[in-house]
Amino acid sequence: MISLKEVSLVYQDHGREVFACRDVDLSVQEGEFVGILGPSGSGKSSLLYLASGLKMPTNGSVLWRERKLSDMSDPERANVRLNEFGFVFQYPFLIGYLTAIENILVALPDRDRRLEAESLLETLGLSDQKDRYPHQMSGGQKQRVCVARALMGSPSVVFADEPTAALDHESGRNVMQLLNQHRGSGALLVVTHDPVMLEGADRIIRMEDGKIFSE
Ligand SMILES: Nc1ncnc2c1ncn2[C@@H]1O[C@H](COP(=O)(O)OP(=O)(O)OP(=O)(O)O)[C@@H](O)[C@H]1O
Ligand SMILES: [Mg+2]
Repeated sequence: MISLKEVSLVYQDHGREVFACRDVDLSVQEGEFVGILGPSGSGKSSLLYLASGLKMPTNGSVLWRERKLSDMSDPERANVRLNEFGFVFQYPFLIGYLTAIENILVALPDRDRRLEAESLLETLGLSDQKDRYPHQMSGGQKQRVCVARALMGSPSVVFADEPTAALDHESGRNVMQLLNQHRGSGALLVVTHDPVMLEGADRIIRMEDGKIFSE
């Protein structure tokens, strides 16, 4: 459902070119759980940004259901991201003056999604946190709020960048189980430093220096 074809992402860093991804080819099938491992700076987050259309490649193309993301208009691409993709960022990203549940609901169209949000928070062990503000929560609690936000509306693809980094082993497993359950016929891409969290993955890819060097 997603394919990357010879994709590169180059950052300009003080006049120097940094290849965050270099000629990456990757196809993710419907229903697939793909784990992504690799050292710090190897391009894992960049790969997720490219696959989800959060960043446009410098070279190559990214296809979502046979259509190039770069051929879509900005609103069209935004719609795909909103309706089809869920993203858990590496660093919890919550609005400080909104409560946990408000953070989950803020980006969604006006339909009443409160029950769905409450049920996800409950599954993630956060019922007691729903009306609290980010500064009142621990890192792991915030991370789980971000997981709940990503799962709203059961997106076709969930991209999760180190979703268990701030969690103890048990909550980490819980989060992974939930991500896995929500996969349905969609796909799940998970970046992690902890291979244990990739139990049940259909495929594990390793990145180094912007390249996928083994599958
Ligand atoms: N905005 C930026 N400007 C310049 N270089 C960047 C930028 N963002 C990332 N990079 C560089 O791109 C490369 C890949 O970064 P990326 O964040 O994708 O790595 P990562 O594998 O996710 O690392 P980590 O495990 O530390 O999160 C690194 O060399 C990084 O320094
Ligand atoms: Mg990263």
